[in-house]
Amino acid sequence: MIEVAMLDAAPKGVTVVSHPLVQHKLTLMRDKKRSTKGFRQLLNEIGMLLAYEVTRDLPTELVETETPITTTMAPMIAGKKLVLAPILRAGVGFLDGMLTLVPSARVAHIGLYRDPETLTAVEYYFKAPSDIADRLVIVVDPMLATANSAVAAIDRLKERGAKDLRFVCLLAAPEGIARLTAAHPDVPVWTAAIDEKLNDHGYIVPGLGDAGDRMYGTR
Ligand code: URA
Repeated sequence: MIEVAMLDAAPKGVTVVSHPLVQHKLTLMRDKKRSTKGFRQLLNEIGMLLAYEVTRDLPTELVETETPITTTMAPMIAGKKLVLAPILRAGVGFLDGMLTLVPSARVAHIGLYRDPETLTAVEYYFKAPSDIADRLVIVVDPMLATANSAVAAIDRLKERGAKDLRFVCLLAAPEGIARLTAAHPDVPVWTAAIDEKLNDHGYIVPGLGDAGDRMYGTR
């Protein structure tokens, strides 16, 4: 049996979100008996919790606010607006939860599929807001496995002008983290867990299987 380790020291540039609610929900998602409905609901909930963590350091500014009692200076988020950039299709599972917390974010869609033979990322769709250069872009994909898709998505977003990016996933393999942080050292990563390894088919071990299939009930 492979135990899921809780890492104290994450690699440089990587934040492991060890909040008990996140860990509990992730364990429920790993269970192969979890229903499609349950899996989707949990991904949505963890999306919210990870959105909370990845936005933790956003700058705020004091704005004058009139309460029913008096006028006060109270903090609001300042600075860059957000773009959420899910990698299709599994990244969409994170989107609703994140948009619940950041409803005014713009959304970029990046359609990539994994060639089953070579495991390389093949692009079939790309659409992003025109002012992406002025926004903080949060790329989301539940599974950071080989990192081929994550690296390709960030390459495309940078080509489009994105300068300030973060990457959020649910589960990462050490191989994926090494590849992503080497290719894009300027892009910090948030994940709920770093698992043991990739298997020969590019699946994360122990992992949770194919996130897209489990979320949409396909296969
Ligand atoms: N993509 C998935 O959905 N699961 C894995 O384990 C690896 C990549």
